[in-house]
Amino acid sequence: MPISIKTADDIEAMRVAGRLGAEVLDFIAPYVKPGVTTGELDRLCHDYMVNVQQTVPAPLNYAPSGYKPFPKSICTSVNHQVCHGIPGDRVLRSGDIVNLDITVIKDGWHGDTSRMFLVGEASIQARRLCEITYECMWRGIATVAPGASLGDIGWAIQSYAEASGYSVVREFCGHGIGRRFHEEPQVVHYGRPGTGLRLQPGMIFTIEPMINAGKAAIREMADGWTIVTKDHSLSAQWEHTVLVTANGYEVLTCSAGMPAPPRSITEKATASA
Ligand code: MF3
Ligand code: CO
Ligand code: CO
Repeated sequence: MPISIKTADDIEAMRVAGRLGAEVLDFIAPYVKPGVTTGELDRLCHDYMVNVQQTVPAPLNYAPSGYKPFPKSICTSVNHQVCHGIPGDRVLRSGDIVNLDITVIKDGWHGDTSRMFLVGEASIQARRLCEITYECMWRGIATVAPGASLGDIGWAIQSYAEASGYSVVREFCGHGIGRRFHEEPQVVHYGRPGTGLRLQPGMIFTIEPMINAGKAAIREMADGWTIVTKDHSLSAQWEHTVLVTANGYEVLTCSAGMPAPPRSITEKATASA
């Protein structure tokens, strides 16, 4: 399948789906507290999506080839879990960090976004990893414009992560998104400036760097989904769905409760406005 260029109507539908995805994260944030289980977070999100938003949780029974169907409605990845953690009986404790990854389908269109949450009192190291990963995502987003390349996005992320002493997970990447959950292109979070596909207005894809405090190597757990760091170091991830516009980018997964972009990004935007 070639890379789809979205029409004005498609883009409007993706804005709706993106906002709804982000609003699930706003909804669940107050529940991410010591003592809650990841299964409870999944149930709360599931009911909010289905009953309040009338959206479809895209992960539920999602089964790309080679995978068994994902059994839950959101992904919950705790501490050294990199991504695709399956919600269950695990109780979150003070000091844990957890990524909640939400993908909703509204009127056939997907909105995909994730945030890190600090449970109770997190260590300075855990907070720094979450903050730098957030900045990695935004540095990637800030490069998005017509004529920029996928390598520019990857380099912006990789260079900042590695300069901070961290490593970039290679096996999982951002992706085109629209009527299908995972479309072309693959948006890897490492690379070299000026290399790879050139961006065009109307492309929509996610940027979702997974950054490890230790080495980049990962391992898949026996459940067939959960990805962990091989060295058991902490891992963090943030995700937005992004549109290439005529002169830059638009983040589609925006909501009232979303964290603000880091200062390095807003300062740059003001300086060039
Ligand atoms: N939301 C993930 C992504 O950002 C994909 C999760 S697939 C699932 O691409 F089946 F684990 F939900
Ligand atoms: Co996601
Ligand atoms: Co995604």
